[in-house]
Amino acid sequence: MSRSKISIIGSGAVGLATAQWIASKDLGDIVLVDVVDGLPQGRALDLLESSPIEGFDSDVMGTTNYEDTKNSDIVIITAGLPRKPGMSRDDLVAVNSKIVKEASQNAARHSPNAILIVVTNPLDAMVHIAAKASNFPKHRVIGMAGILDSARFRTFASKELDVSVEDVQAMVLGGHGDSMVPLPRYSTVNGIPLSELLPKERLHALIERTRKGGEEIINLLKTGSTSFAPASAITEMIESILKDKKRILPCAAYCDKEYGVGGYFVGVPVKLGRNGAEKVIELKLADDEKELFRKSVEHVKSLVASAEKFL
Ligand code: 2OP
Repeated sequence: MSRSKISIIGSGAVGLATAQWIASKDLGDIVLVDVVDGLPQGRALDLLESSPIEGFDSDVMGTTNYEDTKNSDIVIITAGLPRKPGMSRDDLVAVNSKIVKEASQNAARHSPNAILIVVTNPLDAMVHIAAKASNFPKHRVIGMAGILDSARFRTFASKELDVSVEDVQAMVLGGHGDSMVPLPRYSTVNGIPLSELLPKERLHALIERTRKGGEEIINLLKTGSTSFAPASAITEMIESILKDKKRILPCAAYCDKEYGVGGYFVGVPVKLGRNGAEKVIELKLADDEKELFRKSVEHVKSLVASAEKFL
């Protein structure tokens, strides 16, 4: 059996951190792509030279040429401009729609059987652009967001309760933005719902911090974007897909009848296996949760409408 091939479009902070996590887990050969000549080649060589010390056999190469990505099993699209302080993810629609469209077309041409993982913001609209531009079946186009958002929720809850992060599970639905829907009823410490462990106002504070998790870091950094946690979330998706683990993870997946969404990519629990998004899991939502989810989907729809102008 040959090693899997994973291409990463965009060699910025998220792309590089992803390459590092993939290599450290030896998940497959890595191709780093960027438009800036020298950047992906230099970063790839640097990472490759850590392989004897870290003990990974994954090959790492950098390129500006999409031909080098040919026959990838997974293509990750991180290319695009990041947010600056004061900008919302939505402000990026125009510029990133064009970048994601081109990247998806090129990726699809060279790897017609790949699974596309989209990371560029505004996430849910960019997954839509990638699906249209690649013309891939919908189960082979997935957005990374829910794992990251729920990891933030898990981090904050574990610190608040002073318990191991390993025992804290969380579920966050909806779009990747301020309208995301963390679900305390489905978030637990080893099965005990967070709503039983935390007073309402503390739970509310953690939810608000989760919603603004990316912004909190961007405001601290002043320039640049988040990278470690998004990259870690991407790597969890890759591992579940390549090892056909069939984990149930929150990702932006295509929902038509599911949750009554009507044909959009939004954050929902998904079974991730060798075929991509193999199944959307429908949770039973309470009325207030349904309403929050509906509002979040409405927001995604409006973003998609503005992104579609650039298709
Ligand atoms: C994040 O939430 C920037 O959307 C990215 O970290």
